[in-house]
Amino acid sequence: MNRENRKSLLHLIIGILFIISFPACSPSQTNIESPNSILQLQFKIDNGEAFYSLSRKGIPVIEKSLLGFELKEHEKFWKDWEIESTDRSSFDETWEQPWGEVQFIANTYTEMVVNLQGIAEPTKKLSIVFRLYDDGLGFRYEFPESGYLNDFVIMDELTQFNLKANHKAWYIKAYQDNRYEYLYESSPVNNMGIAHTPVTMETADGLYISFHEAELVNFASMTIEATGSNGLKANLVPWSDGTKVNCSTPSKSPWRTIQVAESPGDLITSYLILNLNEPNKMDDLSWIEPGKYVGIWWELHLAKTTWGQGPNHGATTSNTKKYIDFAAKHGFKGVLVEGWNQGWDGDWIKNGDQFSFTKPYNDFDIKEITDYALSKGVRLIGHNETGGAVLNYEAQVEDAFEFYNNHGVRAVKTGYVNHGPSIKRIDENGDVQLETHHGQFMVQHYQKVNDLAIQHQIMLNVHEPIKATGLRRTYPNMMTREGARGQEFNAWSPDGGNPPEHETILPFTRMLAGPMDFTPGIFDLTFEEAKPDNRVNTTLAKQLALYVVFYSPFQMAADLPENYEANLKPFKFIVDVPCDWADTRVLNAEIGEYITTVRKDRNSSDWYLGSITDENERSFSIDLDFLEDGKEYLAQIYKDGEGADWESNPYPVEILEETATKDSQIEIKLAAGGGQAIRFIQIN
Ligand code: NOJ
Repeated sequence: MNRENRKSLLHLIIGILFIISFPACSPSQTNIESPNSILQLQFKIDNGEAFYSLSRKGIPVIEKSLLGFELKEHEKFWKDWEIESTDRSSFDETWEQPWGEVQFIANTYTEMVVNLQGIAEPTKKLSIVFRLYDDGLGFRYEFPESGYLNDFVIMDELTQFNLKANHKAWYIKAYQDNRYEYLYESSPVNNMGIAHTPVTMETADGLYISFHEAELVNFASMTIEATGSNGLKANLVPWSDGTKVNCSTPSKSPWRTIQVAESPGDLITSYLILNLNEPNKMDDLSWIEPGKYVGIWWELHLAKTTWGQGPNHGATTSNTKKYIDFAAKHGFKGVLVEGWNQGWDGDWIKNGDQFSFTKPYNDFDIKEITDYALSKGVRLIGHNETGGAVLNYEAQVEDAFEFYNNHGVRAVKTGYVNHGPSIKRIDENGDVQLETHHGQFMVQHYQKVNDLAIQHQIMLNVHEPIKATGLRRTYPNMMTREGARGQEFNAWSPDGGNPPEHETILPFTRMLAGPMDFTPGIFDLTFEEAKPDNRVNTTLAKQLALYVVFYSPFQMAADLPENYEANLKPFKFIVDVPCDWADTRVLNAEIGEYITTVRKDRNSSDWYLGSITDENERSFSIDLDFLEDGKEYLAQIYKDGEGADWESNPYPVEILEETATKDSQIEIKLAAGGGQAIRFIQIN
């Protein structure tokens, strides 16, 4: 039993001591409060139907909202309930992340388990587990073994999230062709349609609310549908036959999560989603290590080289060695190489089942490369693009991970590029069915791949993933993932790439779910020769600030080595900045406008600051009271230089040094589309 498990067990025992059980005949309404009485939850049975409501300091957040399911052979499963018993307990622990945005996380909640039984059919059972934190609510359904259900099929989840008003919401619409890769929309929530989670809202009375889910395992992912009149309803992503989830008792749903905060930054430093996941289940974490990487990647997206074979093939032995030399020289731990394996020639998205994950192209000598890399203290990062052909991948994935493991590779980036419901599955009649990336079939697939990755000591970076739901707590090899529009859109998107506000929305939406492999750090922002019609829509200083504002345990320095060699002064920030943190604080923020984040290095006493803005220039005065009392720091400042502007003049960066203490203030001036990055080095 590792340290976290032992600690959790002890706390569980203490928690259990406080369980108070209310047997049958308890009233049809029951309430709990969060540990510091910030949130109040009410559960009630009304006319045989189950409802909950949530308020914050007495102000309604979720008004009376239905709970329950429609099942295939029990259409009215959501009706005819009475409370059989309720169990209440409280729990308080602090656990340590092996890597992360903070080192220690307090997990403090009040729990109420409401055990329901059918009035007419007492063997019909359902338990709803509520965990109420000061920063939000998690609840899940548990289907016990009671003889009433064995194997069953969920046709619809009826969970509602009825709001008090038509709040402003930020979201990406669900059921679109290109998975999660769209610009965020914002509108009054009644106009939202059906959206992926996290969906984040700002209320007129100054609260920030975000809806998501935690511990998505063997279930369909939940999208949220605006039903009108401020109503929201869970909408589970279906299988190809329209059913939602296949289950067997005993089973449980993922947690439905509602984070509630007084400032947008408090959503970022709420760890509710991680807390709701189970503690680490892996014994040996010695091979798990966050780190920065470079790779044969941006040159492919700029079409300077190709994934497939030909005169400009990118993944050659000599090109890879060039990146290894660069990585070794500047202290990067990994080199990602895409297009190294057979299957890329022709239309690889259409022909994903042609990919081999163990056969390199002839000009890629993997043994020579990995020996060379290891001799320089660098590791190759593997790449398995599946084109969404998961049956082909599942047939090879063990061999692929073994192959990599034998070559000293410890991290693999996977990919599932394909559009709409395009994932082939063979049904029980031998017919091909097309599934989506976000239904139960793919949730199972992503988990299967991660289980095998653990067996072969592989850390994962999943592109075209299922959204993050905090499983990295349980499986700390699940490092990072994509799941939104990343930097690559700037290389080729016909709409001109990500507008400057994009990076000021991601931290409050996609990134509340978990780390994102955005791949910051482009220095040649306009790349006129390679792609005259595309560019990166930020200043150079903003690219630096993204390393602090965006959290990921793997961070890429995405640009070409020559663009860094030509700009070694600003590049020093990318070399210096860590990607494993002891602490994180958000100093100021408005969703879609600006954000300033500070993080403390996990392995030194240094602090780092990143501040970014949308298309508007801004200035702030920042108190440095996060710095340690009585210590002096050297602040290395990388700011937008004179005349900088993302559109007309993105390159000027001013680099200066000054001393600072916790009593100092610092003036931050951000150009339009700009940013500022600071390293605070403790000097005495
Ligand atoms: C999409 C991924 O997001 C990108 O990083 C990768 O280069 C391509 N697929 C090819 O696998």
